[in-house]
Amino acid sequence: MQHLIETQQFDREALNRVFEIATSYESKRDESLRGKILASLFFEPSTRTRLSFESAMLRLGGNVLSMENASESSSATKGETIEDTIRIVDNYSDAIVMRHPEAGAAARAATVSEVPIINGGDGAGQHPTQAFLDLYTIAREIGRTDDFHVAFVGDLKYGRAARSLAYLLGKYDKVRMTFVSAPALKMKDDIKEYLNESNVRFDETEDIKRAMEIADVVYQTRVQKERFPSQEEYLKFKGAYVIDRSMVDHMKKGAILIHPLPRAGEIAPEVDDSPHAVYFKQAGYGVLVRMALLKTLLGEGKKTIRAYRRRK
Ligand code: CP
Repeated sequence: MQHLIETQQFDREALNRVFEIATSYESKRDESLRGKILASLFFEPSTRTRLSFESAMLRLGGNVLSMENASESSSATKGETIEDTIRIVDNYSDAIVMRHPEAGAAARAATVSEVPIINGGDGAGQHPTQAFLDLYTIAREIGRTDDFHVAFVGDLKYGRAARSLAYLLGKYDKVRMTFVSAPALKMKDDIKEYLNESNVRFDETEDIKRAMEIADVVYQTRVQKERFPSQEEYLKFKGAYVIDRSMVDHMKKGAILIHPLPRAGEIAPEVDDSPHAVYFKQAGYGVLVRMALLKTLLGEGKKTIRAYRRRK
């Protein structure tokens, strides 16, 4: 049995296979997960991750059990631990996708679960399935996953989607990264150490305009209000890096602007009809990628994922 906890579990071959399956779902029907049940346990709000996983499972002929707002509506309110909740829900389902405010929560769930755990975002930790659909978007929209320059913008300290994608891109060749953020929201050292070990070239700047002019991919992120110690602290950074139409019009020909969404003002609505803006298309790719991941975890492809091993 395999759990999907972090992007490091996937190598290029495994991802290529997932992406091939994802693309095949644009043109074929597959109800091979009929009779299987996906439980979605969301202890934090979500629109895309929960609904696209549920849509993916239904499109593959399976069924879903859904608990949104689990911090308030589950027995966690009575003091039940994550481990005990998982020991119960794994009796009711064939896989569990879980989002939780604590970094490491999905790994804790995996230690006790009898069915695959899929990390749907764990605090400021990782959001691996978002990184897979981000990479899939890059592959589809610029036509390659090697030899490109990506600028990550915004809240790189708390933004788990950017962290996961940076890890993942460390496996690809000649990917150059620029991290654009306020000094207090810089990418954390664990990622930078990993990139150094993986010989990935990266730099850090506060100059968004220059970064946008030279990047092939601009990855804008939301300032993660829910992770700040206070509203006052959050307001210091909200609005620091707003992308407007004139900035996007200076992007290179063929370059793309992506965002995991939701946005909270950091991309102006006037950008939406720019040919560079592909963030809504990116969210649409999420269903295809999550169908492919469910098929891989619950169907014949499960041996392609490296087992998750908890680090000390
Ligand atoms: N990108 C993302 O994780 O969106 P949701 O929070 O809506 O799931």
